[in-house]
Amino acid sequence: MGMKRIAVIASGRGSNFQAIIDRVCDGTIPAQIACLITDNPSAYAIKRAEKHNIPVSLINFSEYPDREHYNQALEKAMRDCNADLFVLAGYMRLLKSETVRAFSGKMINIHPALLPSFSGLHAQQQALDYGVKIAGCTVHFVDEGMDTGPIIIQYPVVVLNDDTEASLAERIMEFEHLILPQAVKLICEDRLEISGRRVIINESGGE
Ligand code: GRF
Repeated sequence: MGMKRIAVIASGRGSNFQAIIDRVCDGTIPAQIACLITDNPSAYAIKRAEKHNIPVSLINFSEYPDREHYNQALEKAMRDCNADLFVLAGYMRLLKSETVRAFSGKMINIHPALLPSFSGLHAQQQALDYGVKIAGCTVHFVDEGMDTGPIIIQYPVVVLNDDTEASLAERIMEFEHLILPQAVKLICEDRLEISGRRVIINESGGE
């Protein structure tokens, strides 16, 4: 079986994208990054892609008359890159249900909270507002809900007395950069099985 092709979908800075690039470059993840898809022409993620000669597909949200046309273009870009795995790494828009269904089981997302707590935007601030003592991050398969798909890996981060949204986000980020590439690697090695809501991690890959 050939090397898997990964497509990353990102809207902004792309530090999680960079974490994947780094693990592909050092051989930890046995895959090739087929493309970066972004909705934002000023995303720093584009610079990261260019530096590593990764093709960029820009589907500029503001150039489409409405969400419907944007979604069609996005889905076409996803099909065109012919990837085995789509990684949402700071993609700031909701995908349409049809798109999620079309790529079911082949799309994952990183979220900066221990799901099912604090889905959606500003997860770290939500955790502080609630007063939890343990925050963290989650990599999960994408389903039609918001941050609700089967969980692959989670990592806990202790909340400190003087944490702000920024300081907590920074500490959580360190572990996002760890668990997102780990999840990508497991998928590229065919080691994950989805059983209802549970994701089983197998010792060695199927084949
Ligand atoms: C991360 O906190 C990720 O968990 C969330 O969006 C942020 C993206 O950061 N979904 P970056 O663009 O990867 O630096």
